[in-house]
Amino acid sequence: MTRVVILISGRGSNMASLLAAGESGALRATVVGVIANRADAQGLLTAAARGVPTRVVDHRSFAEREEFDSALAEAIEVFSPDLVVLAGFMRILGAAFVRRFDGRLINIHPSLLPAFPGLHTHLRALSEGVRIHGCTVHFVTADLDHGPVIIQAAVPVLDGDDEALLAARVLAQEHVIYPQAVRWFAEGRLRLQAGRVLLEAPPAGAGVLIAPQPDACPRC
Ligand code: GRF
Repeated sequence: MTRVVILISGRGSNMASLLAAGESGALRATVVGVIANRADAQGLLTAAARGVPTRVVDHRSFAEREEFDSALAEAIEVFSPDLVVLAGFMRILGAAFVRRFDGRLINIHPSLLPAFPGLHTHLRALSEGVRIHGCTVHFVTADLDHGPVIIQAAVPVLDGDDEALLAARVLAQEHVIYPQAVRWFAEGRLRLQAGRVLLEAPPAGAGVLIAPQPDACPRC
């Protein structure tokens, strides 16, 4: 069974959706540990209540970013994971960390990358007046919010939307595509090769508008 470690910083709703998919068998993977960089991350309670081992590696205990990164990497390795999943993990990880977990480190970002990397994505989408917004699961590279895209879901931006309404519409799709991406990885159908995502025979899924389809275009 594919072993997954999830890193969080706060609420942990994506983590909870992954735990639920794991428990139902839909993930084809086991979440073997949850690590937070803050002891007050709400998601730690959710994970513990479901019997998942939790750890805290507090970034404030380290003078240098590299020291935090390597303590975090060591805490992760204790669980011997096949896949490391960033789910609302609010620390930037250095190049050495990213290299160490190359091809087995994924993130979810609340925009249709490459649009709106960084913070406040929903507010920025509203202020730019885009009509389509969404979320992206991608492999993590040293470039913040710019790794190879695994799966995206799009939602409409509706008249009368505010940040909270739009965020909730996107979040509902996050909870669909993140378990989907982890399942593809667990099934051995998803991998990173020479910086590109390879996905074997992706099925169509609810809310999934864009996914790599190797056979779809004869010229691609
Ligand atoms: C999500 O919107 C995720 O895309 C972003 O941070 C938020 C985390 O939410 N990276 P939660 O902690 O999973 O509820």
